[in-house]
Amino acid sequence: MGQSPSPFDPLKIGGIEIPGRVYKAATSETSADEDGFVTDRLLLFYERMARGGTPMMITGNMYAGPLGKSTQNMTGIEADEKIPGLRRLTDRVHELGSLIFGQVSHCGRQVVAHLMGFEAVSASAVNEPTMGTQPRPLTLAEIDNVVEEFGAAGARASEAGFDGIEIHGGHGYLISQFLTPHTNRRSDAYGGGFENRTRLMVEVLRAVRAAVGPAFPIVLKLNGDDSLVGRRGLGTDELVRVGRLAQDEGCDAIEVSVGHYESGFRMCAGSFEGFYREFLEHGSGQDMTRLRQAVLRLLHPLLDRVSGRMWPPREGFNLAYSRRFKKELDIPVICVGGFQSVEAIAGALERGDADAVSSGRQFIADPFFYRHLREGRTGPTCDFCNRCLARTGYEPVDCYNPTVRAAKEALLREVGE
Ligand SMILES: Cc1cc2nc3c(=O)[nH]c(=O)nc-3n(C[C@H](O)[C@H](O)[C@H](O)COP(=O)(O)O)c2cc1C
Repeated sequence: MGQSPSPFDPLKIGGIEIPGRVYKAATSETSADEDGFVTDRLLLFYERMARGGTPMMITGNMYAGPLGKSTQNMTGIEADEKIPGLRRLTDRVHELGSLIFGQVSHCGRQVVAHLMGFEAVSASAVNEPTMGTQPRPLTLAEIDNVVEEFGAAGARASEAGFDGIEIHGGHGYLISQFLTPHTNRRSDAYGGGFENRTRLMVEVLRAVRAAVGPAFPIVLKLNGDDSLVGRRGLGTDELVRVGRLAQDEGCDAIEVSVGHYESGFRMCAGSFEGFYREFLEHGSGQDMTRLRQAVLRLLHPLLDRVSGRMWPPREGFNLAYSRRFKKELDIPVICVGGFQSVEAIAGALERGDADAVSSGRQFIADPFFYRHLREGRTGPTCDFCNRCLARTGYEPVDCYNPTVRAAKEALLREVGE
């Protein structure tokens, strides 16, 4: 009674109990086939972590509708034909004793639209500078359609055997574009004051809840700060208020992150060693203008160093935000951001800064991270170079740091793969 939980204690989220408090955070897999269907490669990514005893894994973002797809080879949950493949994934994970939540998203303006072959949409026509995308505002009928798409995706997630759903309300994705005054300049019922900017989120939560029933866990990923310096981004006070509204709407947990794409790399703070070269040669740098490519070719070592200084990695880099959500919410709060040691995770739980944590890059480096934490053993350790991120949308998610990858391959041989 009153004792602080350990990283290995169970946590109840909605109608289910998860046997641990360290989860795999969503990292887009770039491992579906070109039409968004589950492949063996995608299965393998989750099988490894399930074999490593990970209590719960959140998939990379899956598009709820065709205009929500942000990259090639992203997994889709936008059509009933996707259900059998997704069912194969959840069955396999369950056979191995783990739980899996499906993350559902709509990218809105955060897409290189001409590469995807469609027009980008958003709350308003606000240019996305990192991708050079000029979106058009969604019409009211299209907003209704987006809400329906999320609801239908929820129904498919439940039918496909997922243990819960995570709605992506952070990182400057469509719901976050509506929440944030910088990206939402609408003057209709979806723009302006708090109630209007949160309307899309509320309607999505209601549609998903109606589709999945009362016991199915719904998690919302939300920023703890938009980190849009000099623009009209949301700070922690208002985002906590958004979290409270989500709780009132029946959301079962909040995962706290930070930043839009145009905030820079706060959401993936790191060392950036080799990042920009990787991005140029193996990521979306390949599709940039010749001018941008020439700048990168010339300046990549400098850009690595500057980024590493601006956004240095730190364990629990979103804890200052999750602590605020914890103070004001009654539902579980999951904190993501830089976790890779039992000390940092146990410390966060002991201080009551979060009820659970999630890790993205550390699990990419070491799929057996959870087992290693339990055994007090150090496995391959992510150095946050972000080369995995540099290849997103171009190559299957994996560790592309030569040293860490060698350690990962040695581990996989050791476990008989
Ligand atoms: C390769 C890669 C892909 C990612 N894809 C997603 C995604 O699909 N959905 C999402 O909410 N966050 C995504 N993220 C962000 C992570 O979920 C997480 O918030 C971030 O990496 C910080 O956690 P970490 O320090 O434990 O990696 C991605 C991060 C990386 C590195």
